[in-house]
Amino acid sequence: MVSLSPVSNTGLLPFEEGIDMLDDPIADMIAARARAQQLDDPYADVCFLATVTSEGQPEVRAIALRDIEAQGIGLLINTNSPKWRQLEAAGQYTLQVFWATVQRQYRIQGQVALMEAERLQYYWSRKGYHSRLLEVYYEAVEPQSQALRSREALLDGMRALRAQYPDRDSIPLPASLVGVYLYPMTIDAWHGSPDDRLHDRRLFTRTEQGWRSSVLVP
Ligand SMILES: Cc1cc2nc3c(=O)[nH]c(=O)nc-3n(C[C@H](O)[C@H](O)[C@H](O)COP(=O)(O)O)c2cc1C
Repeated sequence: MVSLSPVSNTGLLPFEEGIDMLDDPIADMIAARARAQQLDDPYADVCFLATVTSEGQPEVRAIALRDIEAQGIGLLINTNSPKWRQLEAAGQYTLQVFWATVQRQYRIQGQVALMEAERLQYYWSRKGYHSRLLEVYYEAVEPQSQALRSREALLDGMRALRAQYPDRDSIPLPASLVGVYLYPMTIDAWHGSPDDRLHDRRLFTRTEQGWRSSVLVP
């Protein structure tokens, strides 16, 4: 586990030389994440998804980041959750990642596409017992983010599910769990340079000819 204690007055880890901004921001993200994983970045597999409610209230939450691929950023989302309802209704989001170990931030906006069933099944096959059980809870007992009368109510519900599904392989993939690809149309890529604060920041916009980029004031 990498230490998150500040080593400079910015509170960021030192800028790593030698990773230049690539012309393809998806390839840039994939390379940066692989490096962050090598460096045991605690956020290498986490992203932050912002959506907006029907009242215009922004909501943001941490989500497990699956794969980054040409078709988009893979996430699993339960369709009983507020985040799904917001994503579906507004069709708008901002996804953010920040990997301190490699001094990279990406802010992404774009479209949403459903993941193919085999890919969802693949991610399900990697989920542990408790994680699977919680997905079933969202579908069979109470939806995610629902207010409960007590924590005991949650524990009771889970006890019943554990009795019904004593082992991991007995838990079926609930229909309410979907995989999505967030397909970037714009990516604001930030390569940090904490010493002089002249971070290399580019806005990539997807066009029919490929990515167009402009340099932004950091
Ligand atoms: C590191 C981390 C990873 C998380 N990963 C997920 C996730 O993959 N899926 C999920 O539904 N919630 C995840 N959560 C919980 C969410 O941040 C949030 O509490 C929950 O999704 C709320 O759902 P809503 O925004 O739809 O109301 C994670 C939280 C943390 C701190």
